Amino acid sequence: MNITKCIKAVERDRKVIADSSRISYYPLVISSIDGATIEDIDGNKYIDLLSSAGALNVGGSNSRVKEAIIEQLSKFIHYTPAYSYHEPMIRLAEKLIEITPGNYSKKVAFGLSGSDANDGIIKFARAYTGRSSIITFIGAYHGSTYGSMTMSAITPKMRRKIGPFVPDIHSFMYPNCYRCNFGKSEDCCNLECLEQIKEAFKNYIPIDEVAAIIIEPIQGDGGIIVPPKKYIKKLYELCIKNKILFVSEEVQQGFGRTGKWFGIDNFDVIPDAVILGKSIASGMPLSAIVAREEIMQSLEAPAHAFTTAANPVCCCAALSTIEIISEKGFLEHVNKIGNLVKEYFNKIKDAYEIIGDVRGLGLSIGVELVTDRIKKEKDIQAASKICYRCYEKGVVLITLNGNVLRIQPPLNITEKEMSKALEIIKSSIDDYLGGRIADDVLKLVKGW
Ligand SMILES: Cc1ncc(COP(=O)(O)O)c(C=O)c1O
Repeated sequence: MNITKCIKAVERDRKVIADSSRISYYPLVISSIDGATIEDIDGNKYIDLLSSAGALNVGGSNSRVKEAIIEQLSKFIHYTPAYSYHEPMIRLAEKLIEITPGNYSKKVAFGLSGSDANDGIIKFARAYTGRSSIITFIGAYHGSTYGSMTMSAITPKMRRKIGPFVPDIHSFMYPNCYRCNFGKSEDCCNLECLEQIKEAFKNYIPIDEVAAIIIEPIQGDGGIIVPPKKYIKKLYELCIKNKILFVSEEVQQGFGRTGKWFGIDNFDVIPDAVILGKSIASGMPLSAIVAREEIMQSLEAPAHAFTTAANPVCCCAALSTIEIISEKGFLEHVNKIGNLVKEYFNKIKDAYEIIGDVRGLGLSIGVELVTDRIKKEKDIQAASKICYRCYEKGVVLITLNGNVLRIQPPLNITEKEMSKALEIIKSSIDDYLGGRIADDVLKLVKGW
């Protein structure tokens, strides 16, 4: 594998790009993308199991999305929706209202990133309810603006030196059945993780001052953690009973990622609001808050307005992305390939003590690596080395929470590509177990 040009480009990058914006894994310098195949500037090809952090659900170079972009570009690039109107934005808002859960009157506010949409929901929730407390979860990543950072609780690295943060935002344990924080197993679980929130409401957060609970339907960057259905149902009931808004944060899990349109569709509850980003426009900068009309009407302009929000080129990319995901068989394919991945790892698990847990919905899958199954000690070194060896052998994936292999390919990845990628992961695990991956790699793979 020759990566001479990539290494040179990375050296130049290091001189001009701030460290704060990159989590280092390997020197992948992209030159082009075709379906689920990435080519680097040295001509090496990789199967993409990351899809730009879940932002390319229909692929990084989808010809239909590109056509939609070019068609709009030939008309005009942008004109701010703060002072004018354009058709693509209106059409997209109508479409989002149609496809998001909830058969009630809704409105949409557009932004440019998942982060700003998460900031926005703090504002709307507070304005609508007249309450200030916001409940979020440990392990969550919601973004990099002040509000979304405050809602995040994933690593102290992102908080050091920049406080104080937005007040009255409280993070609680996310339900993690593989590593239950309360030492329970499924047969004796009494949803202690929900009880801790109730205890907090009893003891120090007045429940009638709680505006919203903001939860990812699968905790993505925390390690692809799937909560039990009964937890989400009970949390939802708690919200309804106490007039707390239930917000599904779909930035990573939305747009077909979990094999359903939205992650929360797997849990049979209807949120008051959904937060959308990443794949909404196939990686073009766009985000949206879609919520009950009365919530969205609680703020006056310009309380949540951005000059370059709802860019018409991005809106056309989004409309095209939605059209592709809506097609017959698309979500079935996601579930089929997702099941294939889980079956593969569950099958090899017997022979590989290092695989502690395999979990996920659709094509949002995490494979957790441990030093031994009983102690469940995280094998961060293994995950980092395997991740690097995968890159060397032609598969792009990253680690989450130190020891979880993140498997989130473009949703239209073929069975053949996925099977090849799985074989490469397995042979990389073999290389690790055989001591064939040098320690030097650990200097490069910094990870989350
Ligand atoms: C669940 C979730 N929410 C929000 C964000 C932030 O989105 P963005 O990076 O577009 O601001 C991310 C990004 O990783 C995410 O995974």
